[in-house]
Amino acid sequence: MKTNNYDLLNPNTRAIVYGVQANAIQRMLNFDHACGRETPSLSAIVNENKAGYHKVFWGNEEIILPMYRTIERACSHHPEADVLINFASFRSAYRTSKAALEEDNIRTLVIIAEGVPERQSRELRRLAREKDKWILGPATVGGIVAGGFKIGNTGGTIENINESKLYRPGHVGFVSKSGGMSNEAYNIIARNSDGLYEGVAIGGDAFPGSTLFEHVVRYEHNPNIKMIVVLGEVGGSAEYQIAEAIKKGEIKKPVVAWVTGTCAKMFPASIQFGHAGAKADTSYETAEAKNKVLREAGAVVPESFDTFDKAIATTFKKLAESGKIPQLKESPPAPTPMDLPDAVAQGVVRRRTGFTTTITDDRGEEPLYCGIPISQVVERGMGIGDVIGLLWFKRRMPEFASDFIERVLVIAADHGPAVSGAHNTIVAARAGRDLVSALASGLLTIGPRFGGAVSGAAEMFKEALDNDMSPEAFIRKWKAKGVNIQGIGHRIKSIRNPDKRVELLKDYAREHFPETPYLDYALKVEQLTTKKKDNLILNVDGCIGILFLDLMNALGFSDKEIDDIVLDGGLNGLFVLGRTIGMIGHFIDQKRLKEGLYRHPWADILFALPEGEDLENGQLERIE
Ligand code: LMR
Repeated sequence: MKTNNYDLLNPNTRAIVYGVQANAIQRMLNFDHACGRETPSLSAIVNENKAGYHKVFWGNEEIILPMYRTIERACSHHPEADVLINFASFRSAYRTSKAALEEDNIRTLVIIAEGVPERQSRELRRLAREKDKWILGPATVGGIVAGGFKIGNTGGTIENINESKLYRPGHVGFVSKSGGMSNEAYNIIARNSDGLYEGVAIGGDAFPGSTLFEHVVRYEHNPNIKMIVVLGEVGGSAEYQIAEAIKKGEIKKPVVAWVTGTCAKMFPASIQFGHAGAKADTSYETAEAKNKVLREAGAVVPESFDTFDKAIATTFKKLAESGKIPQLKESPPAPTPMDLPDAVAQGVVRRRTGFTTTITDDRGEEPLYCGIPISQVVERGMGIGDVIGLLWFKRRMPEFASDFIERVLVIAADHGPAVSGAHNTIVAARAGRDLVSALASGLLTIGPRFGGAVSGAAEMFKEALDNDMSPEAFIRKWKAKGVNIQGIGHRIKSIRNPDKRVELLKDYAREHFPETPYLDYALKVEQLTTKKKDNLILNVDGCIGILFLDLMNALGFSDKEIDDIVLDGGLNGLFVLGRTIGMIGHFIDQKRLKEGLYRHPWADILFALPEGEDLENGQLERIE
């Protein structure tokens, strides 16, 4: 249908929304898409707290709507928008509505807020009239041009919209005070005529920005509307103006009307029905009086709301029979893609997961550690060794195993400030870095030469013993390759200065493990290596890794499980976790001491740069 000047909204209308009403915004765009609009009905959003953009769906694509801090900026960037939908609260509705009316491009203003002071509503109406603009509201849900433009939440969900055929225009103009009742009316109109052309709810306040009468007049002039439906309400006098205009012949199109609130007479005194303006202070304002006057003027007024549908059906039928209703081309709405979470919830689609976990689940009332609720973990007195058993190895560990893990953490927790990890942590803390950065700096030093030989040692020794390699052959093999045996050797510990930590771990294993074949093998290797150099001892990383092989064997881990754990490098986690305790300690200590930036002393650095002569001798010539 051709649009005309009496359309407040049409399929090309663009709007600006004040307030990030994500659902209403998305519903507007879903409607546009269902109607086959070429461009989204929204140009921009105003969000006083944040400029930027807002992501929305347009069909099954994601698009962005620009977001501005002020109505002025949004309007100046989007002169194509001539509607402003104001979702401001009643406190700021006046200020923001006034700002919108000041903008030249805004022709229609919709005020959703309820409870705007009447004095302010009247002032806004005065301003709108002066500038020849329209206001819908305050306290309105908005309105809709079928197949063209939908304001905010009007018409409800896309399912309601499709049911009420609002995705394509019919020939009925509808105006009501109530937004909730207008959704019901759209459905009634769809079932008893060829459908809605335009419907607006003016809002339930006593001083609306535009009146029922003004919209009826607009519909009378709009050639696309062939029949008018009015749903009035107890209170106010706009219905009298409509009746008067019908009588005078100013409204010639058939009007089907009903004024709700006829039950008010059942109450002893004047009562207010929900809306601020729905209250009859005089008999003149009652629903009955207004229905009577409308009927007498020539409007089709049913006996009760129950037969409102029939009144619409008969009136429309008469019009259609007289040939006044052009034939409509029916085409179904474009399907609205479902949001994935809704589709999943309804079982319409299934999606492959991107992640798998077999250790924890926090979707219920409390997290589960490998299936055990944390309250039970606590109640059963499980310690950190047990928790590591559950989360790392998916096992309820026997007590000796959990205790062993805890012992490892205790002995690995720190080894003074001079070692790589602590040193880096200290330097970073003194450079003013935060805990996580300083800790990360320390953790990043853990590797084959420092603390990170646990897995490597387990791998090398496992391979050797599992293949019945003699300690001599084992040593020869790695020597031939020019590779250090992981877990062997220490910078300061030696046969004469044994590492107490290794002694403690060995003692524990001998006392509590059923057998220690890997440890026994490693000690034979140590006997040979220390003959060459007395610091080629089994070091702490090596001892942890090797004893973990014995532990996993004792606990009945399968070969595959042991191989996976060893080869994936997870055993280094034992040192990482233990040493994290110490590194955090160093961080806290440095901060507490208020230590300043660390600078390494020159005296401790050998400066061995090339001499001038070397340059002349051609040693630093450019390599071509
Ligand atoms: C440590 O656990 O940090 C030490 O074994 C390293 C060292 O050089 O003392």
